[in-house]
Amino acid sequence: MRVAILGATGAVGRTMLDVLDERSFPADEIVALASARSAGSRLSWRGREMTVRAVDARAFDGCDIALFSAGAARSREWAPVAAAAGAVVIDNSSAWRMDPRVPLVVPEVNAAAAADRELGIIANPNCATIQLVVALAALHRARPLRRVIATTFQSVSGAGQTGIAALQAELKGEKADDSPFVSTIAGNVIPWIGPRGEDGWNEEEQKVRAETRRILDLPDLAVSATCVRVPVEKGHSISATVELESALTLEEARAALQAMPGLVLLDAARDPMPRDVAGTDDVQVGHLRVDHDMPNVLHLWIVADNLRKGAATNAVQIAESVRSMSYAGSNA
Ligand SMILES: NC(=O)c1ccc[n+]([C@@H]2O[C@H](COP(=O)([O-])OP(=O)(O)OC[C@H]3O[C@@H](n4cnc5c(N)ncnc54)[C@H](OP(=O)(O)O)[C@@H]3O)[C@@H](O)[C@H]2O)c1
Repeated sequence: MRVAILGATGAVGRTMLDVLDERSFPADEIVALASARSAGSRLSWRGREMTVRAVDARAFDGCDIALFSAGAARSREWAPVAAAAGAVVIDNSSAWRMDPRVPLVVPEVNAAAAADRELGIIANPNCATIQLVVALAALHRARPLRRVIATTFQSVSGAGQTGIAALQAELKGEKADDSPFVSTIAGNVIPWIGPRGEDGWNEEEQKVRAETRRILDLPDLAVSATCVRVPVEKGHSISATVELESALTLEEARAALQAMPGLVLLDAARDPMPRDVAGTDDVQVGHLRVDHDMPNVLHLWIVADNLRKGAATNAVQIAESVRSMSYAGSNA
């Protein structure tokens, strides 16, 4: 199987190479693609050296799967080209996430949606949304959701290599020339991720709301998010307040969360933290409480590695589902 990675030199693309290897994805060949800036540079995978190529109209020929992580503009331009060449495109950008012809998939929640891909493109959700919906889907299976209020604490790697470089430079007391952040990030928290609309909501906050509703197939769910960038290298954390249709005891909530694949519920004595989840693939949940005043409201703390479950791992899991679906189809 031939797998293309567009954005192979980036924070997500490099993590995809690791995850494909760790999960023994049956790729015989990786086609590493990026911009002309990185063309000719070398990457290694499974002990083999590869030369990075600049993406072009023939780059996807013969590819079965194309994993995209090079930003929305590149996805809009190249995803139709890759799909026309016969590859199933799994796109990490926001370009296709709200297109009704493109499924938006978190395999633990809605894996079957990946089968219905009119354009040959499947969208990977926003990184904060992925970890949030894994926990919400678990609770929704126990009691219908009524309202979600989420405050995110998002690491700098969510803004790619330039985000990591900006924090590292500022921690050394240097000026980060190419910082993607609106202010100094070292020693700071910035409640601003993505452009802010006239109504005051940041783009990231709107993505969390719209994508959560779409993945859970709950178009009227009340969702509000406050998205905050914090000086952490890897791992997003979310404080979520979840109102359910009816009360759930702490024991029932724990049982619902423990039954969810891909979710690890920590016991009351340990809280998940970004330093501990970095490099892991599960969504970790802790600090679970039933509200003092409203027994149908839960509070929980949700942490995941944004480069892995929030991007690369989720995309590779989708590729695995696509592969098993095509085997099932060929056996039918
Ligand atoms: N970081 C996260 O946690 C996260 C989570 C979910 C989704 N995503 C999405 O994943 C995508 C990549 O994010 P990232 O964090 O990996 O960013 P990044 O570290 O900045 O990497 C960007 C990648 O895109 C490539 N690229 C840029 N312009 C290009 C062009 N004109 N043609 C071809 N390739 C080009 C870069 O190649 P060069 O080396 O040639 O510049 C690099 O490989 C974004 O759409 C982002 O929204 C990121």
